[in-house]
Amino acid sequence: MVDTTDEWIVTRTGIRERRIAADHEAASDLGSVAARRALERANLSPSDLDLIVVASVTPDMPFPATASIIQHALGADRAAAFDLSAGCTGFIYAVSMASATIASGAYNNVLVIGVDLLSKITNWSDRSTCVLFGDGAGAAVLGVGNEQSRILAFELGSVGEGADLLRIPAGGSRKPITVEAVQAGEQYIQMCGSEVFKFAVRIIVQATQSVLAKAGLTTADIDAFVAHQANIRIIESATKRLELPDEKVIINVDRYGNTSAASIPLALDEAERDGRIKRGDVVLMVGFGAGLSWGATVLRW
Ligand code: ACO
Repeated sequence: MVDTTDEWIVTRTGIRERRIAADHEAASDLGSVAARRALERANLSPSDLDLIVVASVTPDMPFPATASIIQHALGADRAAAFDLSAGCTGFIYAVSMASATIASGAYNNVLVIGVDLLSKITNWSDRSTCVLFGDGAGAAVLGVGNEQSRILAFELGSVGEGADLLRIPAGGSRKPITVEAVQAGEQYIQMCGSEVFKFAVRIIVQATQSVLAKAGLTTADIDAFVAHQANIRIIESATKRLELPDEKVIINVDRYGNTSAASIPLALDEAERDGRIKRGDVVLMVGFGAGLSWGATVLRW
């Protein structure tokens, strides 16, 4: 489709394979599957849920919220539902908001879903973006914590002056979809990759250090480090600066590409299944993305 090579993609991004949804599949389809699996592993039924938060930049449609569509698919009759837009940081934002509603006493069980089908908003003739993205969904159920298992701290932020660096120009109220906009490809992702790259490395280090300080921990306390899986070079540059040993750094960008809001829950799920994350471990998750948004959460698993 474009002038590129496997060698360029692997050496510049670390991506070897990725998953692309079928034409008929949408965010609520993938999100519902992930949600059912998370509920099963949490030993809860949909009627136990108080709130559903879906982090996505590729909802089924601008409105209603994909969270409402998933609520209906699950039969989670008691749950409130809304979507959250924080790009690739979406899952971190959603977990942080969920934990705050639980800590306040408002809710007991909150379902958080990170789902994106970036293939649907990718310009397949733009080589600077079309080699990067994959589709996926991950979900987690958050409940009331205890000394062994709880969120220890979170830090969220936004650098709005970078809003133009990663965006879809058309399709909103600023520039509604027109024939001209479509002809110019403005319904697709546009990204200034090198600027986002520099921001990502800087902010991963900064957010990790500040969330650890907030929790009274140091990098030596981290058992598993899960960064947004956008590019292996971003993760390696940041973890080198943080002096984190390789065995603590969870990586799966090689098999899924950048799945946006799904990347962190996909990595958490794999790492728990293969034993790299165990009950009681200190897990640090950190993300960055459109906004430019950023966030980090440290928890005892
Ligand atoms: N194949 C071959 N060459 C390419 C390709 C490609 N697929 N893409 C770009 N190039 C070329 C460029 O044209 C450029 O050529 P030039 O020097 O002749 O102009 C050269 O490669 C270098 O381009 P850079 O953009 O400087 O390459 P870089 O090493 O920065 O890698 C990349 C590009 C992979 C996009 C990197 O910048 C990156 O990963 N950025 C961060 C992306 C990201 O994390 N996005 C955030 C989340 S997405 C979301 O929130 C929805």
